[in-house]
Amino acid sequence: MALKITVIGTGYLGATHAAAMAELGFEVLALDVVREKIEMLERGETPMYEPGLEELLRRHVVGFEGSSGRLRFTQDWAEVGAFGDVHFVCVNTPQKHGEYACDMSYVESALASLAPHLARPALVVGKSTVPVGSADRLARMIAELAPAGEDAELAWNPEFLREGFAVQDTLHPDRIVVGVRSERAEALLRQVYETPVGEGTPFVVTDFPTAELVKTSANSFLATKISFINAMAEVCEAADGDVAKLAEAIGYDDRIGKKFLRAGIGFGGGCLPKDIRAFMARAGELGADQALTFLREIDSINMRQRGRMVELARQALGGGSFLGRRIAVLGATFKPDSDDVRDSPALNVAGQIHLQGGQVTVYDPKGMENARRLFPTLGYAPSALEAVRGADAVLHLTEWREFRELDPAALGEVATTRLILDGRNALDPELWRKAGWTYRGMGRPTA
Ligand code: UDX
Repeated sequence: MALKITVIGTGYLGATHAAAMAELGFEVLALDVVREKIEMLERGETPMYEPGLEELLRRHVVGFEGSSGRLRFTQDWAEVGAFGDVHFVCVNTPQKHGEYACDMSYVESALASLAPHLARPALVVGKSTVPVGSADRLARMIAELAPAGEDAELAWNPEFLREGFAVQDTLHPDRIVVGVRSERAEALLRQVYETPVGEGTPFVVTDFPTAELVKTSANSFLATKISFINAMAEVCEAADGDVAKLAEAIGYDDRIGKKFLRAGIGFGGGCLPKDIRAFMARAGELGADQALTFLREIDSINMRQRGRMVELARQALGGGSFLGRRIAVLGATFKPDSDDVRDSPALNVAGQIHLQGGQVTVYDPKGMENARRLFPTLGYAPSALEAVRGADAVLHLTEWREFRELDPAALGEVATTRLILDGRNALDPELWRKAGWTYRGMGRPTA
């Protein structure tokens, strides 16, 4: 008989996972403690912008024309307990206020609410990013609270989805990692992921701590790659080299690889920054803090790039103060194809210049609403052209395709000064220079 699946927490990860499970053919019941989130999803809408996700939801949420009807929502824990053979826990683990460690309260409360309703054989599968050692503790919690006793079990199955590619990454992952304690748990997860595994996705079976560590170490490696190239950008700048060429050249070595070597204003978002900090905090608790002190440097190289961008802008404007200078900022989200502004380097730079007296006008294709909520005192324009109108300098801070396709000549007509600073090294310098602009990238020669 086909497995029945529940998904607990319908944020980024959960909403995508629930829709993907329905796409793979399972009956899915998803729960969230926030009523409004569920009501939105029932209307086939998502609280965030994620390409392809609304379409996928509408293909499966009950009530849409032609939908499979395999995806339903609830707020009733008893219903979830009675329904599911496999329960995926997808709640978030944000950074604790004022600390590096992550906040486990949502995971704990999800387990505390679910476990007393596990009266029949069930596998609870944690997907949230947690400090190593959590799964062991949560397994004991299930053992204490679940009426099914040993028939209710835990497994850990970290999620690697990228915002902007969430649907693709969930349906066709690079790899599936499962931390399990029994053959039954492994067999159930093989059944859940039969389709992607059949398409060739590697299926890696580990113990609990390794599964938890795979996620944090993968994110640490990615963060390290970005900070490495940003450190090289600083050296290139001092030595008059070109970090873009350097990245291309080292990237041909396939031990290094060319991905994640784009220098610029650095990484942000809801994952990389908080995950490396939580990892350092956890290593400290385990007495292994020395092993991860390098991550402190990775974090500080990353945060330094935001300040470097501000200084680059100041210098390019002739030094001195930003008072009375008009700055156009293209991009507000932490990366393109997302409306997420959490810890966004772009907004951070815009905010710093604004706080130093600059008149900042921001435009972003999808992130305007979230940006305005977070930084209501910045100026906002309805298009790139309007943001650039009257500007003394244009800062390109999130590499949306729309910005690469801008016409430098048309923008030149409305800008006060043709000065473009590319905080993502993603624009074509030649194109802008030909249209009479002064182009400055990060870690790239002036002209
Ligand atoms: C990341 C991981 O990639 C994903 O596997 C994990 O599950 C969650 O965290 P995401 O937060 O969506 O995903 O963003 P990602 O695509 O990794 O980009 C992170 C940040 O790094 C962005 O701000 C991006 O602009 C920046 N970045 C990326 C660079 O500055 N240079 C690069 O070369 C690549």
